[in-house]
Amino acid sequence: MNELSKRPDVRRGYGNADRPVAGVLWAQESQPKTAAMLEDGNYEPANQQIDFKRYYDPAVAKLELDKIFTKTWQIACRDEDIPNVGDRLPVEIGPLSFFVVRTAPDAFKAFYNSCLHRGTKLCTKLSNATEIRCPYHAWEWHNDGGLKRIPSHWDFTAVTPRNGALPEVKLGRWGGYIFINADPDSGPLEDSLSVIPEHFKPFNPERRYTKAHFRKLMNANWKIAQEAFMESYHVVGTHPEGLPFNGDSQSQYDIFKTETSHIGRQIVPSAIPSMHAPATATNIEATMASAMLGKAWHYPNYPLMEIDPAKPLRAQLGDWMRAAYKDAYGREANAPDGIMIDSTLYFMFPNFAVWLSELVPFVYRFTPHASDPEMSYFEVRLLMPYPEGEPPPPSSPVVEVGIGESIMEKVPAFNFLALIFDQDVGNMPLVQAGVKAASPARHHTQLGTYQEIIIQHWHEVMDEYLSK
Ligand code: FES
Ligand SMILES: [Fe+2]
Repeated sequence: MNELSKRPDVRRGYGNADRPVAGVLWAQESQPKTAAMLEDGNYEPANQQIDFKRYYDPAVAKLELDKIFTKTWQIACRDEDIPNVGDRLPVEIGPLSFFVVRTAPDAFKAFYNSCLHRGTKLCTKLSNATEIRCPYHAWEWHNDGGLKRIPSHWDFTAVTPRNGALPEVKLGRWGGYIFINADPDSGPLEDSLSVIPEHFKPFNPERRYTKAHFRKLMNANWKIAQEAFMESYHVVGTHPEGLPFNGDSQSQYDIFKTETSHIGRQIVPSAIPSMHAPATATNIEATMASAMLGKAWHYPNYPLMEIDPAKPLRAQLGDWMRAAYKDAYGREANAPDGIMIDSTLYFMFPNFAVWLSELVPFVYRFTPHASDPEMSYFEVRLLMPYPEGEPPPPSSPVVEVGIGESIMEKVPAFNFLALIFDQDVGNMPLVQAGVKAASPARHHTQLGTYQEIIIQHWHEVMDEYLSK
């Protein structure tokens, strides 16, 4: 980590003695603190405003493809998506297309999704085969990319096993995730993940599976979609029903910055009323509301907790959630209260986000549309543990949710949290239309100094990438 460069002029959240900010709550942790709880961010960007053009200008979208999406580590899939040798899956990033193949029980390769003959796309859906075969003229490669066979090879003497292998892109793995990088000069995945593997150790991402999965086509630029999750400031406007048990104004925002990585983190404390909630809202009610959510969402068969008002509330909720987890999965939950209870989300530059939270264990990817900068895809996985001693259940196939379709209706496995996604998604076309409608004389954002620092930092980093 770099030297701390936090700004002296920034007020970091708004709480009080009854409803403290996230850092104060985490300092009161009842369990041994893990790395995520011990490390704060080391950087705060200069307050800057974002030109609205960045959200719709095709020239910007083209630059992003050339200078960001082809130069950074991109989440491709998870191991369990392609469980058998020979399984393959396309990875679409705007007009770019790659595919990942499981080449051996524990080995994967990623290729450009384009035939060396006349360019036909080689992989269009999740499938399995013993070779990679082009549907057009039947050129064939082994699953490791080596050239296998060309019909009428006598007519293509320039193509040999030496120069006829499929071009690869780099592949990296962590915690059951598979990432690819089209830049042959890029550093290793670990350099981009930075603090994430250490912070996620108690979460055991490698011992989880994709229980539900959707990809929503959005009427909004990929950055507008992503930025909807980079702050909890919108809870008061968009999800007001969460105010009695979600400390939105008490959230903590961090940037972990190194020479090679940019991680944004927001910690939204749960089981505590927001400063925006009525004065009558109590911590006991907030704790019970979080327990009821946990029960309804993850532990329907486990008896609801009872509260002793004389004892620390978060520790009781953490203990109840750890006991419910053990009952459900047959192994100890080794995560502290902060990870069991709160809603903490890590972003890795440019478009991957993963929650460090047993309550809301989601994984996000935001990708541009193939041709329209005012559209994008928002992809969400529900990443659940599975019972000890059992093999991982099959990965849920991705459900495509179209424009105007409700996530709640198409992917009921997300339960009532699908409603929250629908609320978030409902704002996005309005933002997309509104950034274009803004006065030419004031064609930019007015971002908060603290609560929107992840958005500010992302644009600062994009400026660096786009000017290279
Ligand atoms: S385009 Fe692939 S074999 Fe002809
Ligand atoms: Fe939201």
